[in-house]
Amino acid sequence: MAHLVTAVVVAAGSGTRLGGKTPKALRRLAGKPLVRYAVDELSAGGCDHVVVVIPESDRESFRAALADVRPAVELVAGGSSRQDSVARGLSRVASPYVLVHDAARPLAPRTVVAAVIAELTGGADCVIPVLPVVDSIRSVTPTGDSRPVDRLNLRVVQTPQGFQTDVLREAHEKLAELQVQVTDDASAVELIGAHVRLISGSELALKVTRPIDLVVAEQLLKEA
Ligand code: CTP
Ligand code: MG
Repeated sequence: MAHLVTAVVVAAGSGTRLGGKTPKALRRLAGKPLVRYAVDELSAGGCDHVVVVIPESDRESFRAALADVRPAVELVAGGSSRQDSVARGLSRVASPYVLVHDAARPLAPRTVVAAVIAELTGGADCVIPVLPVVDSIRSVTPTGDSRPVDRLNLRVVQTPQGFQTDVLREAHEKLAELQVQVTDDASAVELIGAHVRLISGSELALKVTRPIDLVVAEQLLKEA
């Protein structure tokens, strides 16, 4: 059966800042691997096909972590950068809509997934969940000069980010052509003149980056 919404879950990073021997996406919260939380929420939110981009050397461990997920997920070998890993996942997508999600955001809720999909089926090129910035922010130069930046004009960008699949493909082709690296996919679509729509993100969609983030995620899970 043809798929409508594919989720590409990027899980091929090494988790340097988190530390430890296990790949970050296989680290556990309450006994369940981070990648498994991500896949479960994406499916519950309306994705009907899931591609997980993994470190090839850990294929067996990822297969085991996702063995009983139905419908079965597809495992694809990742690349040396996040962008490269997304491109590899995207090569497996045949549906009209695609969501790109970090395995490192295990608690991003199904309600956000569903809201992203609703905007896409309503015709948006690209949809991203964002939150306001709570800290005061300064912009610094290499020489140590700095100036304040008005945080009212800033947003923190999360995943899952949704795209018309053709838009994301074209955006990634543009990145390759220009040899530009970006840290998220929405940053690429404006290069091809597409529009980015913002929706409300969630505090639960925090990115597990440093050890303290795992502690916070564990606590959030207890309170959920
Ligand atoms: N990612 C990926 N392929 C890469 C690098 C990153 O699929 N070559 C994924 C990670 O697995 C993660 C997401 O992109 O789910 C966001 O990246 P980040 O939080 O930076 O994770 P890591 O790169 O694993 O962590 P670090 O930068 O600390 O090594
Ligand atoms: Mg990284």
